[in-house]
Amino acid sequence: MNIEKWIIAHFSPTGGTKKIADAIAAGFHIPVAELDLTEADSAISLGKNDALMAVLPVYAGRVPQVSLERLAALKGNGQKAVAVVVYGNREYEDALLETRDALEANGFRVVAAAAFIAEHSIVRSIAAGRPDPEDEALCRQFAAEVMAKSDYAPPVQVPGNIPYKELKPAVFHPAANENCVKCGTCARQCPMGTIPLDAPSLTNNDLCINCMRCVQVCPVSSRALPDAFLNVVTQMLNENAAGYKNPTVFL
Ligand SMILES: Cc1cc2nc3c(=O)[nH]c(=O)nc-3n(C[C@H](O)[C@H](O)[C@H](O)COP(=O)(O)O)c2cc1C
Repeated sequence: MNIEKWIIAHFSPTGGTKKIADAIAAGFHIPVAELDLTEADSAISLGKNDALMAVLPVYAGRVPQVSLERLAALKGNGQKAVAVVVYGNREYEDALLETRDALEANGFRVVAAAAFIAEHSIVRSIAAGRPDPEDEALCRQFAAEVMAKSDYAPPVQVPGNIPYKELKPAVFHPAANENCVKCGTCARQCPMGTIPLDAPSLTNNDLCINCMRCVQVCPVSSRALPDAFLNVVTQMLNENAAGYKNPTVFL
């Protein structure tokens, strides 16, 4: 394909999605520019010979709505795009279709898509160590196959259902315990701006999307989901997300 530069837009609160984005980017062998969608004011411009790759995590069979809202700032005019979702070894359900549809609605022609696997950001023992070297090799291979496609490749078909799986608001959210030192790290890094800088216990749960960034970045491990909720999720995932799942590509 005739592409001058890839714009790689990723939403990666705990880093797994970005690992996949980086591994695919490494296989393009042409210049890339990154757009971090966890930042509210992320901005980048797209040239007429640039292409866009959106790499988004799967949340409850969908993708975070905020990532689509921020992605929508990037308007295409028939440029090529690739849709990639990253999931925690359970299922990706309607996430890839939703991402493909959003890119098309923004004016892009989606020529390839993929679903890769990364550690589950709520229960880190699920898909622990993914992406592994085999995943990374498949990411580079996917990039090479995308680059080898014809400029006239038709839009790609991906699995998923319309209407998409219903979005349900989460009932439980991470909270800080008494070990919190009010350093503000979580507040500064929350993609949704839900945590007041000087009062982390006053998290605005109406805005929180449970992305686990605050849990991961807390320097004193003060933030966590409630134990009872975590136990239920762990049991569900031990039943539904066991075994080694392989990435799937659509070319
Ligand atoms: C709120 C939430 C919901 C999730 N839902 C799913 C899911 O439906 N299926 C799945 O396989 N993984 C699910 N995961 C796991 C993430 O898709 C996976 O860990 C992803 O790599 C997280 O991206 P990040 O590391 O870039 O933050 C979920 C994670 C979170 C935080």
